[in-house]
Amino acid sequence: MGRKFFVGGNWKCNGTLDEVKKIVNLLNDGKVPSSDVVEVVVSPPYVFLPLVKSTLRSDFHVAAQNCWVKKGGAFTGEVSAEMLKNLEVPWVILGHSERRALLGETNEFVGDKVAYALSQGLKVIACVGETLEQREAGSTMEVVAAQTKAIAEKVKDWTNIVLAYEPVWAIGTGKVASPAQAQEVHCELRKWLHANTSPEVAATTRIIYGGSVNGANSKELAGQPDLDGFLVGGASLKPEFIDIINAAVVKIA
Ligand code: PGA
Repeated sequence: MGRKFFVGGNWKCNGTLDEVKKIVNLLNDGKVPSSDVVEVVVSPPYVFLPLVKSTLRSDFHVAAQNCWVKKGGAFTGEVSAEMLKNLEVPWVILGHSERRALLGETNEFVGDKVAYALSQGLKVIACVGETLEQREAGSTMEVVAAQTKAIAEKVKDWTNIVLAYEPVWAIGTGKVASPAQAQEVHCELRKWLHANTSPEVAATTRIIYGGSVNGANSKELAGQPDLDGFLVGGASLKPEFIDIINAAVVKIA
């Protein structure tokens, strides 16, 4: 089906200059499958993007963790999609639950951001996911469908979108979704894309999982048919990120 395995490393608001250099060295020395098999994208805080981009191995790429919803200008503290493009940062993460929850980013706002970033030539890792209360209330699919719909309403071409399913209860908690739980939502999201975008978008869009992925659980998760990679937080700052990237071999075994 041609969905290349995708592993994103979300460094969040972490790192000093020395720590960032160490992580880049670790990545540069890591033995991983070729870029025909796995696409690796790491996302440092904005201030470290140029350094990471210029020192990182050429088969790995960088992402910003956010960008502004429209053209830059009088928006103190924001970074625009145009600036990322200008610095040749190819990817941006949008709609992460930490921003949705803590900064009040709504589904519509995230949809607008995704559309604007794409219009400027960026590729987007778009995040969706339910809270524990929503899961326990049985509304997981309703929630992730509404989040995905807000993107689909603003976007026609899905070529440059990777959809990240990140259950909020699994993020940073050590409580990873079981392979069956992840597969169930990924499969439903693909069905949703089939019904609401096109069969081609459903077949080709990568749906990656995020939430307490580590070196030990990544292989079994990667074995799920609708799981096309990972968005990794905590473990992306550690040597086990290399093991997670290597979970891609499950798909070609
Ligand atoms: P985690 O974070 O791997 O630390 O759970 C994932 C994410 O927030 O993208």
